[in-house]
Amino acid sequence: MDARDLLRLVRTVRTARGVRSLRSALRRRSADRAGLPRPGAERARVPGAAQGADPLPGGGVVRFARSSLRVRVAAGGAVFCGWDGAGPEPSYALNGPGPEVDERAVLEPDTDGGWRVVSERVLVVVGRHGTVEVRTPGGVLLRRDLPPRWWEPADAEGRERQGAGEPRWALRSEVAADARFFGLGGRAAGPRLRDGSYRLWNTDPDGAFVPGDDPLYITMPVQLVVADAGTHLVFHDDSWDGRVTLAEGEEGAGSGHDRPGRCEVRMDGGPLRYWVLVGTPARVLHGWASLTGAAALPPAWALGHHHARWGFGSEREVRRVVEGYAERGLPLSALHLDIDHYRGHRVFTVDRERFPDLPGLAAELRERGVRLVSIVDPAVKAEPGQWVFDSGAAADAFVRDARGRRVRGEVWPGESVFPDFTDPRVRKWWGGLYGERLAQGFSGVWHDMNEPVSFAPFGDPSLPLSARHSLEGRGGDHREAHNVYGLAMARAGYEALCELRPGERPFLFSRSGWAGMQRYGGTWSGDVATGWPGLRASLSLVLGLGLCGVPYSGPDIGGFSGFPSPELYVRWFQLGSYLPLFRTHSAIDAGPREPWEFGGEALEHAGAALRERMRLLPYFVTLAHLARRTGAPYVRPVWWRSPEDRALRDCEDAFLLGDSLLVAPVLEQGADRRAVRLPRGLWYDTATGKAHEGPGQVLLDAPLSRIPVLARAGSVIPVQRTAESASGPAGPSPAGRSELAALSGPSGPTASSGPSGPSGPSGPVELEVWAPAPGRTGGGVLVPDGGDGWEPQEAVRFTTRRRDGAVVVEQEGAEEVGYPVRVRGEGA
Ligand code: GLC
Repeated sequence: MDARDLLRLVRTVRTARGVRSLRSALRRRSADRAGLPRPGAERARVPGAAQGADPLPGGGVVRFARSSLRVRVAAGGAVFCGWDGAGPEPSYALNGPGPEVDERAVLEPDTDGGWRVVSERVLVVVGRHGTVEVRTPGGVLLRRDLPPRWWEPADAEGRERQGAGEPRWALRSEVAADARFFGLGGRAAGPRLRDGSYRLWNTDPDGAFVPGDDPLYITMPVQLVVADAGTHLVFHDDSWDGRVTLAEGEEGAGSGHDRPGRCEVRMDGGPLRYWVLVGTPARVLHGWASLTGAAALPPAWALGHHHARWGFGSEREVRRVVEGYAERGLPLSALHLDIDHYRGHRVFTVDRERFPDLPGLAAELRERGVRLVSIVDPAVKAEPGQWVFDSGAAADAFVRDARGRRVRGEVWPGESVFPDFTDPRVRKWWGGLYGERLAQGFSGVWHDMNEPVSFAPFGDPSLPLSARHSLEGRGGDHREAHNVYGLAMARAGYEALCELRPGERPFLFSRSGWAGMQRYGGTWSGDVATGWPGLRASLSLVLGLGLCGVPYSGPDIGGFSGFPSPELYVRWFQLGSYLPLFRTHSAIDAGPREPWEFGGEALEHAGAALRERMRLLPYFVTLAHLARRTGAPYVRPVWWRSPEDRALRDCEDAFLLGDSLLVAPVLEQGADRRAVRLPRGLWYDTATGKAHEGPGQVLLDAPLSRIPVLARAGSVIPVQRTAESASGPAGPSPAGRSELAALSGPSGPTASSGPSGPSGPSGPVELEVWAPAPGRTGGGVLVPDGGDGWEPQEAVRFTTRRRDGAVVVEQEGAEEVGYPVRVRGEGA
């Protein structure tokens, strides 16, 4: 126990909960002493010299003196490497058996005694002692993995102790000297991952976190590496605890030689196997989505504004907030009920004194266009006689320790037990409980505390490592199951909602998860600390998660803890309004987060951000569809289309929203202008209409009323048609914005003469077209989905170009553009 633990201990044992959590932590320790293999002598191993190879479709197996390596290149160029006989399955990350192999690629002898696999997209070179190089087809090195090392339990004579536990392993790699690292799940400091060591263990940071607190709720052994030579993603498919140590390289470091970037992955157990995907960022993320599954499509309403609060004391309080939004003409899509609507914090119950008629309330809100979302925690109060506990006990659903006793922990409801979501039977049982939530009128679920958390005054606030799990029938313990617990819970919830309410797309987001969690829903920041550093962390998390394949997320606007100043609140609100999950939330003892609680000026600015978000809703819905189809996150780093631009790789304070917009939030107190680094091409400041040429840096005004947002020249952005815009091309628009009506395409409409346009999520759609740069073309996409169902939606594509100085818009496959068009941009 270190000093921090001691302090935690002294603080917690002053309450009844504290005493119970102390007891639970002591139980955890004794369970692990009895149930985990004892640490003992270990024997180190390396593969040794290569002895031969067996070619197989897509690659083959290279036999070394003390191990073997399976290499397999898939048709899309994904490379799989598995040591010691590890194959791609079983895997919690993969969506199915993995991609088809590239039949044409086979292992062939290389010069100097190694082997290689040549394929269309990638070249893999295996050295005589087990180095693995991934190169571009042209031979440029992207990644060199050195021979791995294992440490296996051994007896005093150094002989392997069978059954004494899993070997630990380590793999060191080198990347280009100019490479930058991204990913590893949701990290508060980033998105560029600086030199340091990052733990792979999903963790509730215990209180609100700031940049530097690490790890957090979602860790993933997924790295995106961006270098001049190319971009690649590497995924070490192993859910055990581990660490990734990163050190960026340096060009011309010593006597003119480059020092390569380095990465070491060290795992406490589990298979040594990994995937490498190479290509442009877009291609890599597409490959990643093909491997791990397409992102769940949120219902359109989930892209509007959500208001949450821990501590809505009653139905009256809920009505007051909804009324507050309505009175001020502020759109609201969803309201979230936290644990305080439960009876004594028991999951799947309702406190009927404070919420006497939840279905009635839900119906009333629904009438007003507001959905109710329910928190769902995995911990079930250990209380015989209570229906959830009884039904779980009857189904033998709860995690047991190595001695066969139910593991008890301490969470919000008190002493609790934990469903084993790694058991398909248990997922089914748990999923059935969501019927209760639907009957209460909820439209979506918010999974929380699923790292899983069990409060502890010392040690890891989770289950004993020795706790037993089904792991899909294979059997294993919490060391392997911990990181996939939230993912498996999300699967249970998602599949249940699909079954219980087949006509609607589920809305689910989860605090914890792992690679592949996007199949079931999104996530949010968790308890980000109120303060300017927390605001910055909010963006890092969303960007980093997007690069790990989880496109839908957002922060607690205003921060989870404390009392933001009006300025901080407005800046957070503005950032949040451009992120997929746009939700205000805070802790029970934190200040309010309603936009009208921060004074008139803040209300005006938050209101403007809110209205702009709703105007952009068709664009957000389109981005949701594109994320599902292509794996590209809505929120992308500014280097997305120009990874070769080194200055952009280091830019962490702006992002691309889809292909068309560049958003530059204000992350500093007192700032009323800010520098914005532009990718190549022409960009319009959407507030002034002024054009700026990238690459380069510009200084833009950022008064408290707005943050800089730039539109890429040539973009076609689907937006909601507002009363203002419907009044014609000369309708009210921000001062200075230059507007010209579009010249029709072959016979396309102009803003004033166009059709009223089919409807989007909550009204008719129009196209905001930003004039292409002279001599250039542009385009955009609309996926016109107003609903919450599964009807396949055709993407509508548009192109823009200039003809005789005028901007022409065309709709692919149509004689006419089927939407009203408004052209913007200087000199259009
Ligand atoms: C956790 C969640 C937070 C929630 C609270 C109470 O701290 O991260 O969002 O409000 O639990 O349920």
